[in-house]
Amino acid sequence: MYGFDYMTPTRLIFGKGVIEKLPEVMEQFGKKILLTYGGGSIKKIGLYDKVKELLAGHEIIELSGIRPNPKYDPSVLDGVKLCKEHDIDVILSVGGGSVLDCSKAIAAGAKYDGDPWDLISYKAFAKESLPIVDIMTLSATGSEYDSGGVISRTETNDKIGYVDPHNYPAVSFLDPTYTFTVSKKQTAAGCADAMNHIMEQYFCEDSTILNDGFMEAGLKSLMVNGRKCLESPEDYTARAEMMLTCTYGCNGIYSLGSSPSGWPCHGMEHALSAYYDITHGEGLAIITPRWMKHILNDRTVGRFVKYGVNVFGIDSSLDSFEIAERAIQATYDFFESIGIPMHLRDVGIDESRLGEMAHHVAVNEGLINAWAPLDEKDILEIFIASL
Ligand code: NZQ
Ligand code: ZN
Repeated sequence: MYGFDYMTPTRLIFGKGVIEKLPEVMEQFGKKILLTYGGGSIKKIGLYDKVKELLAGHEIIELSGIRPNPKYDPSVLDGVKLCKEHDIDVILSVGGGSVLDCSKAIAAGAKYDGDPWDLISYKAFAKESLPIVDIMTLSATGSEYDSGGVISRTETNDKIGYVDPHNYPAVSFLDPTYTFTVSKKQTAAGCADAMNHIMEQYFCEDSTILNDGFMEAGLKSLMVNGRKCLESPEDYTARAEMMLTCTYGCNGIYSLGSSPSGWPCHGMEHALSAYYDITHGEGLAIITPRWMKHILNDRTVGRFVKYGVNVFGIDSSLDSFEIAERAIQATYDFFESIGIPMHLRDVGIDESRLGEMAHHVAVNEGLINAWAPLDEKDILEIFIASL
């Protein structure tokens, strides 16, 4: 078992109606708030008005229009400017993972004198940042309970995922009722994203009975509840369990003591959504079964057997490779059954830039160090198989 140094400083406030605690929570951070949100879903569900009503005594500056796969320019740079101009005390992020990731980059950028891109690209490290409070409206990324952020820079086709302890939100409000209106497309993509977060940790050299059980249960929970959320979008119990399972996703708690895995599917998907601005969870679902097939060999097969038997209930008396092949097919079938387009062409990606993207991933994502090492040729083969 590997050693670790672990702490999550985020307070989680979970359940129906928890937003009533917002005034008392915000009070401890100050009066000047930067309210960040996306393209308007929070207005449609009445959350924007509720937040404004609850925080009537505060000075609120707004940054709206944060897009999926949040952009450095505009959005991060605009937010940093607003924080500096208005001497903001705290950021309140209301929306999905994109709004929160953008808010994380703004929070650190606001306390940094240089180009905020330095902090995203590890050229410099934040010494301090503004506190972040979030209200999540979409279950997927786990950004509400992790130190990660993912920011895209259009002109260089970069989509960088980075970690920094300053990125942990101070407080995350998780009310599953706010996710009732998430579209089928985003619900399915969120389910696939969270499943991938678990699988990226599951497929590694050394794990424990404890971690494997936790992750296998997480995967089963996401598959059962993801399907229920699609069938009955206002099923509170399903939305709630889905939300909490997603929240654990990128926090590291699923794999404390396990060996590192290198997160290869995320490394490859970042290029797809950087070059083509596709939905993150869809890109992951497309790549994952092809990646599994590509890395299946005598060394890795044991892990696939455990996955196939414990997650999908495949007969353990079958030949190991038969179990592995069936598990990979079951993964594909699940994603397809929840309505995810399962080919790159379905999401507007053809063969023209696959080589360029494979090169970009090989140079920037370090997948040669993954559990099953991937060089540029491997990455290109996985992309081609995903077409
Ligand atoms: O912009 P609005 O109008 O709010 O609409 C959003 C957006 O169009 C909509 N939406 C959100 N809540 C809704 C809703 N629509 C109806 N009702 C609601 N309650 O959903 C659309 C997608 O939102 P987005 O925030 O982009 O989705 P998600 O939460 O999946 O975030 C994806 C981003 O997170 C990054 C991804 O790469 C991607 O950029 N990730 C962040 C991670 C992290 N910080 O740890 C880890 C992940 O692996 C992931 O990479
Ligand atoms: Zn993800």
